[in-house]
Amino acid sequence: MSALESAIWSSLPMPSFLIDAEDRIVDANPAAEQFLNLSRKALADSPFFDRLAIDAPLDEAFRRVRVDQGALFINFVDVSGGNAPPVQCNIQIAPLQGIPGHVLVTVEPRELAQRLGRAMSVKSAAKSAIGMAEMLAHEIKNPLAGITGAAQLLSMNLSNGDREMTDLIVAESRRIVVLLDQVEQFGNLRPPERKVLNIHDLLDRARKSAMVGFAANMRIIEDYDPSLPSTHVDGDQIIQVFLNLLKNAAEASGSKGGTIRLHTFYDMSLRLRSADGTPLRLPLQVEIIDDGPGLPPAIAADVFEPFVSGRENGTGLGLALVSKIISDHDGWISVDSVPGRTAFRLSLPQAPKEDHGA
Ligand SMILES: Nc1ncnc2c1ncn2[C@@H]1O[C@H](COP(=O)(O)OP(=O)(O)OP(=O)(O)O)[C@@H](O)[C@H]1O
Ligand SMILES: [Mg+2]
Repeated sequence: MSALESAIWSSLPMPSFLIDAEDRIVDANPAAEQFLNLSRKALADSPFFDRLAIDAPLDEAFRRVRVDQGALFINFVDVSGGNAPPVQCNIQIAPLQGIPGHVLVTVEPRELAQRLGRAMSVKSAAKSAIGMAEMLAHEIKNPLAGITGAAQLLSMNLSNGDREMTDLIVAESRRIVVLLDQVEQFGNLRPPERKVLNIHDLLDRARKSAMVGFAANMRIIEDYDPSLPSTHVDGDQIIQVFLNLLKNAAEASGSKGGTIRLHTFYDMSLRLRSADGTPLRLPLQVEIIDDGPGLPPAIAADVFEPFVSGRENGTGLGLALVSKIISDHDGWISVDSVPGRTAFRLSLPQAPKEDHGA
């Protein structure tokens, strides 16, 4: 390594490992030494999978990187080294240019996502499922486009009866694409870009868009506290949260419709302590309350987990995305559900007084 190269290697803030064709550690940077609490010397030549316990089938990922000579990204996996408790990480694996079989692995702890601790965090099996699903989603889309295109070509020479079959292929493929998009959206969520915003403006935008679409047969009542101070959030992401909750409420009520109440109020009593000890105050409360049948008891405890759905065509990603966005905002979400009344409650931070929305 040249002096510059070695300076870059030492300065990389993410724990990084150089791995040979037999999955042994050739080199580890200082961030990796710190992450594992082991010296570079102690790590050298030891099998990578003996040093790190990773909750994802990474050996398969290594194999693919070596064969395809392309980088792979796997998000939301639990990684632990030595006796330390597992840390949620994003992992990047890249082929090392010019040295066959060697790969570069960087492990990036996702500290923000962890700050609110276990209560809202996605369970580890589900997390690695999402990492793998994200990878798969990307891979499936291309051949799927080929299948759809071929079915469309085929349909041109078919009788009406047979065309029903090709139409079915096209329609079902579209459904898969929508699902894959959702999986990818989940993995690609960017950190919130916070601004000082009025919660009622965000609720209104979500309400209007819901009323012309999926909630057309619902009655939506606004029960707002007009004196509610501004919040400090990523508007697009919070609107997405409101839309997902409104959509669930509308879907639970079914074709006969129902009533949704949007309730906002101020409550100073909710205080949380984040994992690093900083106290968090979440005085702004938003409740989205419907009069539908309530959460299905069998899944009530797990509705925030990905891929948990009580609906025939549900992907189960709506509430997982909601809980991830709220946790990225250092907020809190809870649900209280009995038949006839389901209330999702969001607790959000108040905008700092000196911040004027720049
Ligand atoms: N307001 C509600 N009333 C009754 N059940 C609900 C309500 N909101 C969510 N649920 C239940 O929780 C499940 C999980 O919701 P989630 O939004 O995560 O997934 P989904 O709606 O099934 O699929 P997706 O949102 O990905 O299309 C739903 O399938 C439904 O059974
Ligand atoms: Mg949903």
